[in-house]
Amino acid sequence: MHPIVIELKGVVKTFRALRAVDGVDLTIRRGEYVGLLGPNGAGKTTLVEMIEGIQAPDDGEIHIFGKSWADSAEELRKRVGLCLQETHFMDKIRVRETMKLFGSFHDSTEERVDEMLGLVNLTDKSRDFVVNLSGGQKQRLALGIALLSRPEILILDEPTTGLDPHARREIWKILGDIRNAGTTLILTTHYMEEAEHLCERIVVMDKGRVLADGPKRELLASMGGETISFRAKKKIAEKSLRRVPGFLSYIPQDGGGRVFVSRMRDALPVFLSAAKSAGITDIECRRSTLDDVFIHMTGRTLNE
Ligand SMILES: Nc1ncnc2c1ncn2[C@@H]1O[C@H](COP(=O)(O)OP(=O)(O)OP(=O)(O)O)[C@@H](O)[C@H]1O
Ligand SMILES: [Mg+2]
Repeated sequence: MHPIVIELKGVVKTFRALRAVDGVDLTIRRGEYVGLLGPNGAGKTTLVEMIEGIQAPDDGEIHIFGKSWADSAEELRKRVGLCLQETHFMDKIRVRETMKLFGSFHDSTEERVDEMLGLVNLTDKSRDFVVNLSGGQKQRLALGIALLSRPEILILDEPTTGLDPHARREIWKILGDIRNAGTTLILTTHYMEEAEHLCERIVVMDKGRVLADGPKRELLASMGGETISFRAKKKIAEKSLRRVPGFLSYIPQDGGGRVFVSRMRDALPVFLSAAKSAGITDIECRRSTLDDVFIHMTGRTLNE
């Protein structure tokens, strides 16, 4: 097994009465790609900012490479690269100058700056003002800056939110490429397919707590089921669904819902008769996906 690089024990962060992070334990080993999922306000940003040394926990312990931010900030700064949920660059500085400025914090050479511009595909934009970059290009610039110091741990808070599918895939490719160097990645995202594509380990957070943590296939297996996702004209009462064979749970959503069952073959006919008066307009039957697991656990989709 690879060595532990990040260890959290009983980490708590409160804002007045709110426990934004409410007792999180987490152990991450070198080379792991961890996807941190959770609805808005789950505590993801607060948690990763504590791992990044930007916020201090109110309680609990955080060790990165066995060290704490209080004692080893300078060393950890070099070994941990990060992209915040929002990066504000100075608009009237050119792309290459911006990269150089950040590089100067850890003595990056000119060659390294150019290498990173190439890696994030911004060589052509080197002389442009940052203000003129597109959203996707800004995200790539932030990623290039995060990678300048050859960090062993990379922490990205929603690196592809708001990007089009092509721009998203470009970022995925870069993250796939640096994997070979043994980099450890923590990534928060609202895109299930992003977590599925990049991360073998998924941590699900809600209300400041970890609801689930494990390999993607184990999370799916733990649900052990299949999902009927439907749209209907009228609401269906849970009571009438309880007689569906193998019924696990029902999550109503606007204009429909999802029913989790252990075996589609047995469940579907009874579901259809139970739902007859609701006026089903659309129905999809499938093996449960990570998105289904998520909504099953939290009662909400990732994008709510
Ligand atoms: N500085 C702060 N002061 C007060 N409350 C805060 C502060 N930072 C975060 N919170 C609250 O803590 C909770 C967790 O916020 P956080 O930003 O960690 O969530 P998140 O999971 O990153 O959400 P999102 O998916 O929207 O980015 C929220 O209820 C938020 O309002
Ligand atoms: Mg956030």
